Amino acid sequence: MTVRMPIQVMSPDLALKIAAGEVVERPASAVRELLDNALDAGAKRIAVEVEDAGLKTIRVVDDGAGMPRDELALAFRSHATSKIRDLDDLQRLSSLGFRGEALPSIAAISRVEVQTRTEEEATGTRFSIAFGEPAAPSPCAAPRGTRITVSDLFSNVPARRTFVRSLRAEGGQIAGVVMRHALAHPDVQFTLALDGVSTFSSPGSGRLEDVAPEVFGAVTSKSMMPVFREEQGIVVEGIVGKPNLSRQNRSLIHIFVNGRSVANRSLIFALTQAFSGFLMSGRYPVAAVHLTVPPNEVDPNIHPSKSEVRFAREREVHGALHRAVEAALTEHRFGENRLEPVTTNGDQPSSADEQIPFGLLQTLDQVQAAIPEIRAMPALRIFGQANATFIVAEGPSGLYMIDQHAAHERVLFDRFDAELEVGDVSSQSLLEPAPVELNPGQIEALEVNAGLLKRAGFDLEPFGSDACLVRSVPTAAARTKVGDLVSEVLTELENLSEPGAARERALAALACKAAVKAGASLDVEEMRELVTQLESTARPATCPHGRPTMIHLSHTQLEREFGRR
Ligand SMILES: Nc1ncnc2c1ncn2[C@@H]1O[C@H](COP(=O)(O)OP(=O)(O)OP(=O)(O)O)[C@@H](O)[C@H]1O
Ligand SMILES: [Mg+2]
Repeated sequence: MTVRMPIQVMSPDLALKIAAGEVVERPASAVRELLDNALDAGAKRIAVEVEDAGLKTIRVVDDGAGMPRDELALAFRSHATSKIRDLDDLQRLSSLGFRGEALPSIAAISRVEVQTRTEEEATGTRFSIAFGEPAAPSPCAAPRGTRITVSDLFSNVPARRTFVRSLRAEGGQIAGVVMRHALAHPDVQFTLALDGVSTFSSPGSGRLEDVAPEVFGAVTSKSMMPVFREEQGIVVEGIVGKPNLSRQNRSLIHIFVNGRSVANRSLIFALTQAFSGFLMSGRYPVAAVHLTVPPNEVDPNIHPSKSEVRFAREREVHGALHRAVEAALTEHRFGENRLEPVTTNGDQPSSADEQIPFGLLQTLDQVQAAIPEIRAMPALRIFGQANATFIVAEGPSGLYMIDQHAAHERVLFDRFDAELEVGDVSSQSLLEPAPVELNPGQIEALEVNAGLLKRAGFDLEPFGSDACLVRSVPTAAARTKVGDLVSEVLTELENLSEPGAARERALAALACKAAVKAGASLDVEEMRELVTQLESTARPATCPHGRPTMIHLSHTQLEREFGRR
């Protein structure tokens, strides 16, 4: 810009729209603000209805305190709040809101209609405000509480509207907001309907354990355990996943500070650190943990979206969280791993789907010590097969239990990798070419990775717009079902986050399909063969997906279990 404009104060309308951009970044932020307001009003039931991911309507109905008629218009004025009066109030804040900015911001960029009634008033009030222009309040019949409807969000700021690219993804964000609020306030009943479809509800029983199945799913929440610790005026309370539950990212770690969902990196770090030694590297826990800290020691006023907080006693808060989780994990390890007496009916509960990495190891040191030991795997003497899934063997320093499928995956993966490296993959032609139906993502993966697939032993030819003809497959996988094999490998190649991962993903899928399954009986010769092959791989302790192939129970541990030490 070459011509300098004179400095001038912007119009209130423009100032408000700019401020609104900070508060209401996306439809999900508007939902969060409205939920915060309902909670601050003491609501015990909050219903959210959303259409077109909030771009058409967002309606939040609460049974809270409501707003008196003569204050209603004020609620939509900038910097008008009932929650603080002075700096002292801000320093001992117990509400979620404090800026007096959410409603004016939302109203600047949408049409808002409110119906509300307080306990003291006999009739309610209706009030509407369209793109910042208020209409006069009028009486109406209304139950106690507030019903607020936001329509046509962002329709006067097209840049923001186009920012919302996928309605589905935005709907997911909104569901995430409602779920986090439900985890943060188990005593409040939440419901969410997206485009008329009931998507989420929490019972409002006051117990976090009752909300968890709705958020994490019934199976996952069964594998979560309670955490509780109180130290130096800081209370840590919540639930965390046992180590057999883990995720590739941090998206299921929820931390709340005084009822507010916060995205605080160092708190997440304190929590994940407590899991180190329990989870494989690159895996993250599942958690919903509440921190209660004296209000005068928390500053929520450091980010416009109020999602960050600062603590006066940062180290103490992190320490309390860390120790709370660590204590729960340690207790879990001792509790779960007590050896069960042998039962005679042979009907042991199956834990096939529970992957407890190094679950039998008693201390963190042993977990860490065991990893290098297994890396250089000793020659083993095979005893037999347990549950047609695990090979039981003995080495110089104790017992080994090997997952036959995971072990075979590792062996095949390394073999495919070496063959591909030297361009020597053996391929087997099918007697008749087999057509396999594919979805658009798989077709794209086929096109993008044509060279890799060919080198890996596949001869695949496009066949119409939604299928391919399979002419040959890698010999090592020739015994698996052709359709499943091709479909699985292409699915692995869809949506790759890094293009460099294609080769590894394709080989891992191939190895998984070709490997011996859990439940297949093996004779001693076959087991010996597999174990010998595993011994000669560079990383015998994990399968290509990073899961353990074996568990080691040292002589020392056996002695300890039998009370000899
Ligand atoms: N659902 C509701 N029930 C009762 N009162 C409400 C409700 N929503 C808003 N209010 C009133 O309107 C005022 C303004 O709300 P607004 O969200 O703009 O500001 P705030 O909550 O005080 O602060 P913040 O900008 O941090 O959210 C609130 O202080 C509150 O008194
Ligand atoms: Mg508010």
